[in-house]
Amino acid sequence: MAVVEQLKVDGHEQVLAFRDDATGLRGFIAIHDTTLGPALGGTRVWPYASEEDALADALRLSRAMTYKAALAELPCGGGKAVLIEHPGMKRAAAFEAFGRLVESLAGRFFTGPDVGITEDDLAAMTRGTRHVAAQPSLHHDDISEHTAIGVWHGLRACLDFSGLKPPITVAIQGVGSVGMALARLLRDNGMNLIASDTDGARMARACADLPAQAADPSEVLLAAVEVVAPCALGGVIDTALARSLRARIVCGSANNILASPKAGDVLAQRGILYAPDYLVNAGGLIRGAEFHLLKRTDSHESLERIYARTLTLLEQARARGVSTARLADEMAQARLGQAKPAP
Ligand code: PHE
Repeated sequence: MAVVEQLKVDGHEQVLAFRDDATGLRGFIAIHDTTLGPALGGTRVWPYASEEDALADALRLSRAMTYKAALAELPCGGGKAVLIEHPGMKRAAAFEAFGRLVESLAGRFFTGPDVGITEDDLAAMTRGTRHVAAQPSLHHDDISEHTAIGVWHGLRACLDFSGLKPPITVAIQGVGSVGMALARLLRDNGMNLIASDTDGARMARACADLPAQAADPSEVLLAAVEVVAPCALGGVIDTALARSLRARIVCGSANNILASPKAGDVLAQRGILYAPDYLVNAGGLIRGAEFHLLKRTDSHESLERIYARTLTLLEQARARGVSTARLADEMAQARLGQAKPAP
């Protein structure tokens, strides 16, 4: 049975630390804000170097989910779970125990796939809880595909706003489930691709299948291309990288792409369009939320709205002379503020 501890964290409604020695399950569930509805957010599994790193990631990611849901106009709040991957983890049993923990929250937290999660992991979770987006109702690939389609709508808005004309090359960092789905969409829409991944086999497969030109994961964001699409982990654009980027547009599926708001300011000052990550990568959440909370079987029209939202945000940011990242935060906070009961 998992040992669960409630942590007090400023700015978060509820944070749980848990460990289950029988299965090697270790991790955190962070419920950031449920003003707009139950907390939705994927579960990430990653070999974090320390518990502090894992907790910090859960806190950042859950906050981004609140903002993502707010801008997507969904009746849900933000949460996220992170599990620490380590050699002693008995994967299937650990995910099942984790599912039971999610079940104990009685629907306050609803989860689905995020970085590192396989279809088998989701299946193991469903043995412990109903509150997970998994087969037979939703397929892992379906959620990834929806995220990619949303990013594509966001990118279309960036391209229209900037007036960039083909040929357009997109450099993708990370060709996992979402990165690869996005790459296919871009290819089908006539773009040239540069792909990179820290997993060499995955990158080779992507380059051969798409096709795409291979790049080093640490250098791909510096490529002299029109668009860079970070589709792996967060924090990849800091102020130094923002100063040396050569692309005109940054639009990808990764969560928390900017290492700091200052990095967003540098991009804005340099005239590089940054599509706020949680605005354009909301497709998976939209799919999960609409399917499970709103009982809608199709979400493609909702995904299309990402185009108009992105365009409006880019126009307003230009008119006001603020970074797109700061404006997105401001808009999400305004929506939450309106929904909160008066003090
Ligand atoms: N992992 C998805 C994201 O970061 C969120 C998600 C939550 C997807 C619940 C499906 C179900 O946006």
